[in-house]
Amino acid sequence: MNVIEASNLKIWDSRNGEVIVNDMSFSLKAHSCLAIVGESGSGKSMTVKAISGIHKPWICCGGSILFDGRDLLKQPPRAMREIRGKKIFMIFQDGMSAFDPSCTIRSSFREILIENLGGAAQQADLKIAAAMEKVVLTDAGGLLDKYPHQLSGGMLQRVMIAIALALEPDVIIADEPTSSLDTITQFEVVNEFQRLRRENGVAMIFISHDLGVVRKLADEIVVMRKGEKVEAGPVEEVFRHPQNEYTQYLVHTRMALAENYKRLIQVRQYA
Ligand SMILES: Nc1ncnc2c1ncn2[C@@H]1O[C@H](COP(=O)(O)OP(=O)(O)O)[C@@H](O)[C@H]1O
Ligand SMILES: [Mg+2]
Repeated sequence: MNVIEASNLKIWDSRNGEVIVNDMSFSLKAHSCLAIVGESGSGKSMTVKAISGIHKPWICCGGSILFDGRDLLKQPPRAMREIRGKKIFMIFQDGMSAFDPSCTIRSSFREILIENLGGAAQQADLKIAAAMEKVVLTDAGGLLDKYPHQLSGGMLQRVMIAIALALEPDVIIADEPTSSLDTITQFEVVNEFQRLRRENGVAMIFISHDLGVVRKLADEIVVMRKGEKVEAGPVEEVFRHPQNEYTQYLVHTRMALAENYKRLIQVRQYA
């Protein structure tokens, strides 16, 4: 069963008619993880922004994105606000931007839960405690009373994952969530994403330029270049036998990096 099905998605800038994404079709299967990879500027973020309806007003979309029997591209803003957060949850590269700098983590977390799930602060706090425990945030008590700037990028992403756990959305979209983290922290955060998948069975779209991470997390992959899909399929198949020239280039150059990553992790595991 497909949770999300995008057909002939086209995204363009209405100010100048420039086509940003063209004829993208892909689907996200239930309980699975779809990776979107491709060079910077290839349209990965624009594609997932179309799913959650957070494009700038001058950006237009054509085609269709089916979710839960509805075409997301045809939903009025109010309906999209209902879907965003509760049903489709986005995690961005910069954890800091997701939090209000003037609020403690606890009050941001509480507000998000109450806004999306209703209920009282007390209920929210119980959910927060359970979710924080799941992402094994040590000293969770003290951490919740901190402000976003007092936490590291890795910690903030783990809090985001905890929020996702508490909201139990149908789909999580993570747009390069580990790209601004150092390698070791990246490893830890990727493990949390794995746990999220394992324990919640949530379907996930994961954008990353790190093929090592993609191989670890994703079941299927879509390779984008210049706003178009150039290759798609099960991760292992695409990695073993890349058909498209650009995918071949990506796999060969990036696997060298991934090997390096693996070595680092092994050093850490046996240290
Ligand atoms: N806010 C915007 N308004 C108009 N065009 C944009 C906007 N953001 C991005 N673009 C265009 O969309 C292209 C793809 O961007 P993006 O989806 O962010 O790439 P990626 O995430 O793959 O790095 C960019 O090269 C740019 O031309
Ligand atoms: Mg991007």
